[in-house]
Amino acid sequence: MITFEDALTLVSQKIKDIHYPKQPARLYEPIAYLLNLKGKKIRPALTLLAYNLYADDVQKAVNMALAWEIFHNFTLMHDDMMDLADLRRGELTVHQKWDNNTAILSGDAMLILAYKYLAKYPMNMVLKNLLDLFSITAAEICEGQEYDMQFETRTDVREEEYLNMIRLKTAVLVGACLKSGAILADADAKDQDALYDFGINIGIAFQIQDDLLDVYGNEAVFGKKIGGDILCNKKTFLLVCALNNSDEQSKTELLQWLSVHDQPDAKIKAVTELYDKLQLKKKAVAQIESYYGNALRALDKMNVAKDKQTVLTQLATELLHRTV
Ligand code: IPE
Ligand code: IPE
Ligand code: MG
Ligand code: MG
Ligand code: MG
Repeated sequence: MITFEDALTLVSQKIKDIHYPKQPARLYEPIAYLLNLKGKKIRPALTLLAYNLYADDVQKAVNMALAWEIFHNFTLMHDDMMDLADLRRGELTVHQKWDNNTAILSGDAMLILAYKYLAKYPMNMVLKNLLDLFSITAAEICEGQEYDMQFETRTDVREEEYLNMIRLKTAVLVGACLKSGAILADADAKDQDALYDFGINIGIAFQIQDDLLDVYGNEAVFGKKIGGDILCNKKTFLLVCALNNSDEQSKTELLQWLSVHDQPDAKIKAVTELYDKLQLKKKAVAQIESYYGNALRALDKMNVAKDKQTVLTQLATELLHRTV
């Protein structure tokens, strides 16, 4: 069995070794730049670890793992433009370092590159299943990102709508990364579904934690600008809770701040203080733990020995306490 660190080493090396055409440099340099920044690479690692539950030759799952990581980075390149983010993994975002057109086009090229890695598999039913999973997941992420953008201008987003949005923009990818490993290893449909379900729950917990870190994280460690979500009125777990469950006075104050666009520091400070007053951090942590519990229960449905599952449960536990 390989460890999470083994999976990371394997994936990182393969990413370093990707060969890009020399010209036009402005198209390919941003791709190499983003892919080689310090990302956690949990998605490709999950593909390899899921595959390794059923088969030893993990090299066979590497192209699928790379396709997911390249695709994930493509979504980040476009997401940073949509979210007006300047920092990614502690460095300038692509649209800041280059410009918007570059980020659009290099992102497009990454999506194509991801499909090229998928096309390295032999043409059979396994590839057909992987392609379907990949395309369905990619479309769902677009749907999630569309809801995420629409919600910025709404103040009546219900918790249920928020949860559906983060399932689409974040969780389905985590589920699909795990499921693809199981598909490649020819695991039973029941196990494929259990792994997907585990990923969905880990993914939802992961996004709530991301929302939390965007307010309470340490910028130097998290690598993104703290308060970025507050500045664009992003309907995060915290903001949705604050809008739905607070007293009239807090809600009025919050709504006032949502209409402020020219005092970034004061806005971040005031909204954070409101979150503090409403004790929303505690509420978010409770939600994260609840989805973590769901994730562990999903694994119970698998036909894989408990000791083999440890690598996944350990990773899930580490993600629960992540600061990056
Ligand atoms: C960022 O994903 C996008 C979200 C779903 C919150 P990660 O936090 O996994 O980012 P990297 O790849 O490790 O930088
Ligand atoms: C991530 O949402 C979802 C996708 C990129 C598809 P965020 O916008 O919260 O991710 P970060 O915080 O920028 O990494
Ligand atoms: Mg976003
Ligand atoms: Mg973002
Ligand atoms: Mg975020």
